[in-house]
Amino acid sequence: MKVLILGSGGREHALAWAVKRSKRVTEIVCAPGNGGIAQIARCVPVDLKDLDAMVHVADIEQPDLTIVGPELPLSLGIVDAMQRRGFRVFGPTRAAAMLESSKGFAKRFLQRHNIPTANYAVCTKADELEKAIDIFRAPIVVKADGLAAGKGVIICPSRQIALEAAHGLFSGKLLGEPQHQVILEEFLDGEEISFLCLSDGTHVAPLAPAQDHKRIGEGDTGPNTGGMGVYSTDTLLDAAMQEWIMHHIAEPTVQGMALEGTPFMGVLYIGLMMTARGPQVLEFNARFGDPETQAILLRLESDLVDALEASIDGRLDQVELRWTPGASACVVASSSGYPGSYKTGFPITGLSTAAEVPGVQIFHSGSARLGSQLMTGGGRVLAAAAAAPSLQEALARAYQAMAEIQFEGIYFRRDIGHRALKRTQ
Ligand code: AMP
Ligand code: GLY
Repeated sequence: MKVLILGSGGREHALAWAVKRSKRVTEIVCAPGNGGIAQIARCVPVDLKDLDAMVHVADIEQPDLTIVGPELPLSLGIVDAMQRRGFRVFGPTRAAAMLESSKGFAKRFLQRHNIPTANYAVCTKADELEKAIDIFRAPIVVKADGLAAGKGVIICPSRQIALEAAHGLFSGKLLGEPQHQVILEEFLDGEEISFLCLSDGTHVAPLAPAQDHKRIGEGDTGPNTGGMGVYSTDTLLDAAMQEWIMHHIAEPTVQGMALEGTPFMGVLYIGLMMTARGPQVLEFNARFGDPETQAILLRLESDLVDALEASIDGRLDQVELRWTPGASACVVASSSGYPGSYKTGFPITGLSTAAEVPGVQIFHSGSARLGSQLMTGGGRVLAAAAAAPSLQEALARAYQAMAEIQFEGIYFRRDIGHRALKRTQ
């Protein structure tokens, strides 16, 4: 079986690693991939913003299964385009991916289906803001409607700052592109959980829960990033809470999408805030999380390819996912300056010693190969992920591996898992 993976980050490296473990897979192609992925898959260049170019890669490669990693190709309709040409592809259609690509759509959908989420107002014109904002008390959350790679959410300490942020989104001053819709939202307080599920359009199979660390600084300070580290443990959600989330959030979402004629097949990533009044949906993503996937797949014992194929074929109810008990952790190393501007092209050393730490896998996010040397090539550069019987051990292994890795300006948070560690103390 030949598998094509679209994407170029740590998530795609972890997907390639998990796909490679499947006995049925004989060849993996990743487009465009990165320097680390190139060690386990054949990488071919492609522009992930160019639908025709991605379809062209599929036409040439003729994969038996395609897995779409990032949100952009999904929002452009890569799944629709490939399905029309008869390819088997894992991921939601453009219409179903609107759960991620339009926050206005997602909020209205949540409300239509009585799924718990923060109170909100969608504004389509700047002159609606003044009136809409009066139902909120500070802090007020202001969000861009469309994809913004983590930069589209502004938590505002006052009404005035919220109005300025919302005007900045409408005018294009904040994100470069003017937004056609801006969402005002009630601020939710609590712990965040990444709850990912596979869906075949009807059935839902939860993956191991994870907790991301989105801020750049230790103690969850500083600007938002794509995710600086993550862990997954059995104890993050107890069985009763997991069941509640499935029954009140995950299943109603999948049923609601099917009822509305846009069934969701793929990975539904539910970003939850665990508040005093119960779990509330913060956001949906229509894809695997990054770096959640690196930690989650390290714990997956079942064959990933079987599970993805069952999703495509509508028989997810017949699949039972098996997980290694215990924990996994993933620590991301970034370039100095990230998530602001940063330099690339620095040699990375110590990778083979790092990979020898028991239970550790190194997943590359932004690396490039120059001859035999791996160089930094992105803001998030790579991650050390480890599985172990306990979170303490998984973290110790990931940090032991990270201590071996060097490149100019390397930065990583040293407090990944801090909330869970505090709970167990
Ligand atoms: P989103 O892109 O919607 O996930 O937002 C990015 C991050 O902003 C989330 O992971 C939260 O940390 C934070 N956030 C988003 N919405 C809210 C909210 N209503 N209340 C508090 N924090 C939020
Ligand atoms: N780690 C957050 C995301 O994948 O959106």
